[in-house]
Amino acid sequence: MKKILITGGAGFIGSHVVRLFVDKYPDYDIYNLDKLTYCGNLENLADIENKPNYHFIKGDIVDTEVVNMIFEKHQFDGVVHLAAESHVDRSILNPMEFINTNILGTVNLLAAARHCWQNSNQKHLFYHISTDEVYGSADNGSAFTEKTPYNPHSPYSASKACSDHFVRVYHDTYGLPTIITNCSNNYGPNQFPEKLIPLFIHNIKNKKPLPVYGKGINVRDWLYVEDHASAIDTVFHHGSIGETYNIGGNNEWKNIDLIHNLIKITDCLLSRPEGDSLSLITYVADRAGHDLRYAIDASKIRKELGWEPKIKFSEGFEKTVKWYLANEQWLNNVTTGIYQDYYKLNYENRDKTEQ
Ligand code: NAD
Ligand code: TYD
Repeated sequence: MKKILITGGAGFIGSHVVRLFVDKYPDYDIYNLDKLTYCGNLENLADIENKPNYHFIKGDIVDTEVVNMIFEKHQFDGVVHLAAESHVDRSILNPMEFINTNILGTVNLLAAARHCWQNSNQKHLFYHISTDEVYGSADNGSAFTEKTPYNPHSPYSASKACSDHFVRVYHDTYGLPTIITNCSNNYGPNQFPEKLIPLFIHNIKNKKPLPVYGKGINVRDWLYVEDHASAIDTVFHHGSIGETYNIGGNNEWKNIDLIHNLIKITDCLLSRPEGDSLSLITYVADRAGHDLRYAIDASKIRKELGWEPKIKFSEGFEKTVKWYLANEQWLNNVTTGIYQDYYKLNYENRDKTEQ
């Protein structure tokens, strides 16, 4: 029997990881610690919430007392740490929130794990989920390897870089058994519609402008979220302590090409004439510090752990669009209320640009 703490399990990637672990390992007890911020949504886990090996704890990783109390009470064998503030545009509007959750929250968890595990002979693992954005922009044509120096350009990526450093420090200084993975952009069901793909599907459906930052030439490497969850499962069970693994889809897209593809599929599924929504494309002022290109070299995880993405982009992309179109209520539930305030703040003051 294993007791695993998954933080941020009510969010986009976390909910897919929780589902995978709960279903695949009925002999594990899975504890999902989540504060339920604007993007944490228990609806994402409705299908597994009554399973006997699933437990939800509402709590804030920044709250030292709560974190210590939970570790003391449950004596976890392992931690998969996903809880974070995760959106670059929000980090530009409010960096402090990112420093609190992503840095202080991570250090709180590291300290609690160290305290709890220091006199134990059992095997433990603190597994930290991070992003390829810590490496900065891959402008020189090559892809990020695990040895690429950190060079973050947004408050989000700086806070994740700092949390990665602390994870390594806890390994090197205190001997905490840690692993880090740095993954490229995820897409799929249950992503909060502030990120490019769900936001644009939502706007196409509602015939609202599609705000393309800058010239739309930035490149991202897209991975289907269930492939990321399967990589996390692989690393959790077979990764080597103290190591870092990059995870990516080997699937680079220029934003504007991805958006054209998205319009084509969404228009088709909505039975609109081909190209109907192209007129919604609106070029707007660029994001500050906007990284031009992210590209992952995932050869280490492939060679050492045998992990590779399974879902072809064409398949995952269509599945994703269908999911958002079929789950209108989910989208409506998360885009009312305070989300509207963020939308106004981020988009209404952005000047339109001619291309
Ligand atoms: P998300 O924003 O959808 O979910 C984050 C979750 O963390 C939410 O459920 C939220 O309620 C919870 N949370 C936030 N602050 C908390 C706090 N103080 N205490 C407890 N819970 C808190 O994020 P996501 O896209 O699922 O990303 C999950 C992790 O994966 C993050 O660490 C992110 O940096 C990393 N990551 C994301 C991507 C991506 O493309 N989305 C790519 C690589 C890595
Ligand atoms: P996003 O989904 O926010 O992920 P990240 O910034 O972490 O890569 O954005 C993906 C790309 O899409 C990025 O280059 C910024 C761009 N983008 C837009 O052009 N318009 C938008 O409204 C958003 C949210 C993103």
